[in-house]
Amino acid sequence: MVNMQELTIRRPDDWHLHLRDDAVLASVLPFTARRFARAVVMPNLAPPVTNTAAALAYRERILAALPVGAVFTPLMTLYLTDTTAPEEIDRASASGAVLGCKLYPAGATTHSAAGVTDVRRIDAVLARMSERALTLQVHGEVTDPAVDIFDREARFIDQVLSPLVERHPRLRVVFEHVTTRAAVEYVCTARAGVAATVTPQHLLLNRNALFQGGIRPHLFCLPVLKREADREALRAVVAGGNPRFFLGTDSAPHARALKEAACGCAGIFSAHAGIELYAEVFEQLGVLERLEAFAAHFGADFYGLPRNSGTLTLERRAWSPPASYPLSPGELVPFRAGEQLAWAVRA
Ligand code: NCD
Ligand code: ZN
Repeated sequence: MVNMQELTIRRPDDWHLHLRDDAVLASVLPFTARRFARAVVMPNLAPPVTNTAAALAYRERILAALPVGAVFTPLMTLYLTDTTAPEEIDRASASGAVLGCKLYPAGATTHSAAGVTDVRRIDAVLARMSERALTLQVHGEVTDPAVDIFDREARFIDQVLSPLVERHPRLRVVFEHVTTRAAVEYVCTARAGVAATVTPQHLLLNRNALFQGGIRPHLFCLPVLKREADREALRAVVAGGNPRFFLGTDSAPHARALKEAACGCAGIFSAHAGIELYAEVFEQLGVLERLEAFAAHFGADFYGLPRNSGTLTLERRAWSPPASYPLSPGELVPFRAGEQLAWAVRA
């Protein structure tokens, strides 16, 4: 619809989120809980959340950090390692609080050192996940330093993901934060039970943004921003309303000092505008009416969970994220700090 001033959608979910722990958790959680009814919480804490007991304890800390009156359900994940036991999958499934397990190729991203060195080592775990109907969430990049960083996602599809998906024909798989045309094509043509999350930054920016007028550490995330043709492929597939592609912000807070450093870490914090940014994308694409399905239907349907019952209203009201939000210790520079956003969540 042209010139829409207000948009009410079913309350959305964030299917890929980093909440961290302790004081950072307390600082960032309110942003997500205000917008989203549920979020899939990534397990890459230090140390990582590798077993059900740790996931349940982390879940309690998240619930305890919620603002009074907030209604929000964290959906927990386990961090797979070379030594994850199939019995851990049984415990995770029996807990009812663990939605799936995250595959980080060892060394691929922030806090992934304890990840999986070779997926063949976890075939028994993946088989058990298929039996127990736990979903595999995948960080899809090869880690071979000889492979160009812009090609690591495409290489991962051919070398790791596609064979894994065929070896485990009943396993449900989410290819997290897809960034390339190759990933879009793969997910569109893969067998049933394969889906993907898409971040706001990969829909809004291409890799030129990393170097616009100088190096931009706050736009560095993994997988790194890609070429314009890749961004176009992502935008086309979400504009088309393909239900295999749904919202996952990958909001990943890091203190300013850790981003603005000689070796700055990867991660973009976007929870402060976690639905507003997507509204901007869908409006640019001329399909604002398709935001609701992307944000509130497709992910729940894929995971076999009920759609949320409440609603969220967005209004056309210009606002600017601040230069930083307080974090203890330090501060957090949000995505689009100081720039204007067109959509706001109605108070
Ligand atoms: C994430 C983080 O900081 O935990 N960083 C990122 O750039 N996306 C890890 C991840 O999802 O790869
Ligand atoms: Zn992530």
